[in-house]
Amino acid sequence: MAATEVIDLAAMGEDFVRDPYPVYAALRERGPVHKVRIPEGAEAWLVVGYEAGRAALVDPRLSKQWRNASPTLGISAPSAGPHMLNSDPPDHERLRKLVVREFTPRRIEQLAPRVQQITDELLDAMTELPDGRADLVEALSFPLPIAVICELLGVPTLDRDAFRTWTSTTLTDPDPKARQAATGEVSKYLVELLESKRRDPSDDLMSALIRTTDEDGDRLSADELLGTAWLLLVAGHETTVNLISSGVLALLTHPDQLAALRDDMTLMDGAVEEMLRYEGPVEAATFRFTTEPVEIGSTVVPGGGELVLVSLADANHDQARFADPGRFDIRRPAGGHVAFGHGIHYCLGAPLARLEARIAIRALLERCPDLALDAHPAALTWRNGMLMRGPHQLPVRWKS
Ligand code: HEM
Repeated sequence: MAATEVIDLAAMGEDFVRDPYPVYAALRERGPVHKVRIPEGAEAWLVVGYEAGRAALVDPRLSKQWRNASPTLGISAPSAGPHMLNSDPPDHERLRKLVVREFTPRRIEQLAPRVQQITDELLDAMTELPDGRADLVEALSFPLPIAVICELLGVPTLDRDAFRTWTSTTLTDPDPKARQAATGEVSKYLVELLESKRRDPSDDLMSALIRTTDEDGDRLSADELLGTAWLLLVAGHETTVNLISSGVLALLTHPDQLAALRDDMTLMDGAVEEMLRYEGPVEAATFRFTTEPVEIGSTVVPGGGELVLVSLADANHDQARFADPGRFDIRRPAGGHVAFGHGIHYCLGAPLARLEARIAIRALLERCPDLALDAHPAALTWRNGMLMRGPHQLPVRWKS
């Protein structure tokens, strides 16, 4: 197939949304880069395969800045302001450093008891349901990460439901106007919240980031503060939701793996890595734009702001890197997957995501020894779009 033929991924419909892996694998057979139309509407160059994907993720000719996007793409930046994930060096380094300072592994490790407590409360409520059935997304996968990230940042409990709707619309609503409106709502809310934290600081990450700005002059501008708060809130919960849901789904549809984990919970860390590889929450890395022509395989992707997407899902299913990639095997040697990206934009929240998933899944299995899927796997519906991957709902039952 000629590389310039446009493959319409949106036209592949529900089959592609449910199971995109065979489509990516077929493309990979033909070469590492393909021109596609993505469900979001734009034309993009899709990079498939492990080696090509990792190379693209560290290629400095692929910019994260929206001002480098070609105006003909017809897409707009889904963000409230500048932040590390829409910046290139040297701004990227500066913005990331300011947050890393407050987002240390120690601070994350200290969250473990609180993550456990929130998990226990959610599971108390779930297991009290009289008929022994629930949607796990609603009962655990969604409320846990949002509670944790809101608490970390200092977003009041009362506002979390509104937040949840906005951030999910911002990321996955097919209507660009709805996405834009939701981003506007979040920005408005965050401006007010940052203002109140400036007046009345407390011991949370947002107050700490404000202090950094105030004490160090112009190091984190008001816009950057807004963009960073937005990024942490969105990145901090949409993704982890899907890790918990897809991870539990993988266990429930692979009873031998579930039994092995129940027998030996020390396998949990490796199991979570395999969940990230096998059904990672981020299907394609966020948008990158060419600043000059980039040769990938035998194809030259033109410069001038063309949109490039790296399929993390395909990189993690490339048999050149992972033997028998379609097999879910919690004892597979951990590591090497690109579910958290690669290079300078490697996920800042990886330790938090891992902590939450390990605690949540372990507690769920311990509390529900008879946990089972309460739907046919083929009946589940999946999030639309190229960015996020995970089931909308996960019906489970725990009383035999
Ligand atoms: C399972 C859960 C998660 C997954 C799979 C995930 C995945 C990713 C990926 C793939 C990237 C790189 C995107 C790219 O290069 O285009 C990224 C970046 C990022 N993630 Fe995560 N993420 C998760 C959870 C979190 C959490 C909990 C937080 C914060 C609390 C977070 C904060 C960030 C930030 C700030 C960046 C930007 C880093 C930079 O540009 O330097 N993520 N994440």
